[in-house]
Amino acid sequence: MSHPASEALFERARRVIPGGVNSPVRAFRAVGGAPLFFTRGQGSRLVDADGRQYLDFVGSWGPLILGHAHPEVVAAITAASQAGTTFGAPCAGEVELAERVVASYPGVEQVRFVSSGTEATMSAIRLARAFTGRDLIVKFSGCYHGHADHLLVAAGSGLATFGRPSSAGVPEPFTACTRVLPLDDERALETLFAQEGGKIAAVIVEPVPANHGLLPQRPAFLARMRALTREHGTLLIFDEVISGFRLARGGAAERLGITPDLATFGKVIGGGLPVGAFAGPRHILSRLAPDGDTYQAGTLSGNPVAMASGIATLDALIREDGWRRLESLGAQLEQTLRPVLDAAPCPVHLVRVGSLFWLSLHEAGAPRTAETLPEGAAQRFGRLFHALLEDGIYFPPSAYEACFLSLAHTGADFEQLAEGLRRAFAAS
Ligand SMILES: Cc1ncc(COP(=O)(O)O)c(C=O)c1O
Repeated sequence: MSHPASEALFERARRVIPGGVNSPVRAFRAVGGAPLFFTRGQGSRLVDADGRQYLDFVGSWGPLILGHAHPEVVAAITAASQAGTTFGAPCAGEVELAERVVASYPGVEQVRFVSSGTEATMSAIRLARAFTGRDLIVKFSGCYHGHADHLLVAAGSGLATFGRPSSAGVPEPFTACTRVLPLDDERALETLFAQEGGKIAAVIVEPVPANHGLLPQRPAFLARMRALTREHGTLLIFDEVISGFRLARGGAAERLGITPDLATFGKVIGGGLPVGAFAGPRHILSRLAPDGDTYQAGTLSGNPVAMASGIATLDALIREDGWRRLESLGAQLEQTLRPVLDAAPCPVHLVRVGSLFWLSLHEAGAPRTAETLPEGAAQRFGRLFHALLEDGIYFPPSAYEACFLSLAHTGADFEQLAEGLRRAFAAS
């Protein structure tokens, strides 16, 4: 099916925006074809520039936990913006959202707001380095923490843990203080800590890794990480940009019963407006300027419109017992899709944690490390993606991206997805 209005916009976009997009995954490079341009979103539905409607399982990559254009969020944004969009000075909304974060997340006494997840992780790492007086950081292969230089790192060859830049424009010395380890491997962590433990400022991890498919970790691995970091005076940073306020009110930390030293947030905390945050106990956060010597700032940080959107989102989730409802929606989705996936012509496994899910095309089911998909799987996913799109279902345009549920999804939406998948498998 052609999408003339989207195609015309993409043609114009490519002239004035690199690749025609402002974030690479949107360009459909992993699935082929031209991206759709959207004009409206309501509940679980999107409408494209050609007026076609889609059932959405992307949810803007996580923020829209209440669905598109939730009336309370829209009303809060409207009211706040009518009173002035930004003051560059404190406003009550910052205090109100910070109080909700402190009341929700284990071990958090103070929060600093920023405008993206990238800023949140970048700033949390600066703070951890300042607090510990150490330089090294550890990240895990397959976890994404935004595009700051020292976090855009791939593992070195073989068993080497030395980080190599995974993007052009990142000088080797910038990643020299980053170590990269495999997920799901206590031994690798123990070995690194035995060698360099006294120099490691922070270990940063997505407690439920959701950027290389969905890779739920063994609780014992995360518990060992917590114990080792504590033993060596290293800060443990949970990057909860996806999982925070999505998997539970207290994020993955609450679900796993593990309290990190610092946590980073994004996506849900802004309810669809640009908000990020990093948070932790007062004795660490007080190292930030103006109380302390660690500089961090932002012109639009904590602006009243973004704060109002985050507050309205969290309040609706709390009032509607959102996390319990999302869990049961996830279970319902699983039940509805199971027979269709079992009958698929190639292995397709549903991996789910709460309201996050992923269709894994790995033969053996749910991997726990960042494995490359088997030969031909990415092409198979591309065909599946386009068959669903033709059927009015919008899936993430990459086999490695997780899907997001919202409170606006219903059992009928899951039936529609099951039917779409059944038809796509039959046609493949
Ligand atoms: C776990 C995680 N951390 C950090 C980021 C970066 O957030 P942002 O895109 O808001 O800069 C992302 C983005 O997807 C993410 O998934």
